[in-house]
Amino acid sequence: MKTNDIKTVTIIGAGAMGHGIAEVALIAGYKVFLRDIKQEFVDRGVSMLDKSLKKLVEKGKVTSDHYDKIQNELLKPCVDMKEAVQETDLVIEAIPEIPELKKQTFKELDQYAPSHTILATNTSSIKITDIASVTNRPQQVLGLHFFNPVVIMKLVEVIRGEKTSDETMDTAFNFCLKISKIPVRVEKDVPGFVVNRINAPAHVLRGCILDEGIALPEEVDALIRKEGMPMGPYELLDYVGIDTHYHILSYYAETIHPDFKPYQAIEKMMKDGNLGQKTGKGFYDWSKGKPKIDPAKATDKVDPMDITAVQINEATKLIEMGACTAEDIDKAMLYGTGAKVGPMTIAKDHDPKELTSRLERLSKAFNKEIFKPTQMIREGTYK
Ligand code: CAA
Ligand code: NAD
Repeated sequence: MKTNDIKTVTIIGAGAMGHGIAEVALIAGYKVFLRDIKQEFVDRGVSMLDKSLKKLVEKGKVTSDHYDKIQNELLKPCVDMKEAVQETDLVIEAIPEIPELKKQTFKELDQYAPSHTILATNTSSIKITDIASVTNRPQQVLGLHFFNPVVIMKLVEVIRGEKTSDETMDTAFNFCLKISKIPVRVEKDVPGFVVNRINAPAHVLRGCILDEGIALPEEVDALIRKEGMPMGPYELLDYVGIDTHYHILSYYAETIHPDFKPYQAIEKMMKDGNLGQKTGKGFYDWSKGKPKIDPAKATDKVDPMDITAVQINEATKLIEMGACTAEDIDKAMLYGTGAKVGPMTIAKDHDPKELTSRLERLSKAFNKEIFKPTQMIREGTYK
């Protein structure tokens, strides 16, 4: 199927991501089925979508005529799976980050969707090949990984599973352009893909910082905001969802290395049901809106270059595995996180010997094998 043949899109899951993906497809003029498991969840998704869309109308980014067309004609909220997919050309799944749940859903999608339909997953971490394996059309299954908030963040990672066809990759890539996104190809199916994979060891390091009482969330968030990031890492986890973060780390621990096991602070928040913005409490209290981070609290006990170093190290692993180019890594980090400079550009200003000894020190201090420098770092071939 070619991109121009896509007329109808179905989004499975009307949560934080699903409503946003539906919104960008609707803005681009597609007919969109938005499906969740209960009417109240569908209604919640439609109401988030409407709130966001109204902001865009106020700003003149969406015309009021198009807003009316979306409401009266293009948007089809539903609960019934068959109704959601029986006439669709592209499905994008955005349900919780639980491998078995996704596989079960892909079995159903494969059963009900027409044979030409492309099935995409918005998974944050799970290998596309595993999800595709339960279908009879793995050549038409791929990852389309959007970033939160979907209407604002430009990046979509377009991820090839082991059996994804070139045609599916090209059609999906061009679809991303049609919905005004910046797609980046990920040619190797590695857990976490690009942005999340690069951030993964940074989460582990920041977990150690918390669990060992080196600094508090607000102190680190203030520091990282001072470094120019739009949000601190812990407020971002609250924004993303602590449950999503927990599932991602658990998956990495199983598939990449046990060092990724969820840290104590996250285990406790999961147990207490403090899942961040969505429940009103996480690292911060969100009950009265966004937390206010006091810049004066920035810690001097954490060296931000330590966090950058583990990200650069992970980025070189992706290059060594052939998942992505250095240029695409930086592009993805810019458009998926709001960073001002990408890790591979930062790396160019750093001496391989200094990076190697920094990573060895971190690996030893926190007893984490995943921080050990790669061959590319040790030999300085990233320069
Ligand atoms: N719909 C419409 N407009 C929205 C919006 C939405 N959903 N969310 C934010 N906006 C608008 C706001 O209305 C505001 O507009 P004005 O400037 O005209 O008032 C503008 O965006 C900025 O928003 P805020 O003033 O509320 O706050 P901010 O300046 O802090 O920006 C942010 C919010 C865009 C989220 C910014 O903080 C940011 O870029 N944060 C980093 C986000 C990030 O890293 N995302 C990736 C997460 S990881 C991921 O997604 C992958 C995964 O698999 C887990
Ligand atoms: P969420 O909890 O906000 O929403 C998930 C929605 O899926 C809920 O409304 C739930 O009722 C619904 N659901 C559950 N089972 C379903 C089923 N069988 N059929 C249809 N709907 C079902 O989660 P989210 O944050 O939107 O995350 C969704 C996916 O997107 C996950 O795979 C996550 O890893 C990924 N993702 C999340 C973010 C983020 O920042 N939150 C960013 C990128 C990717």
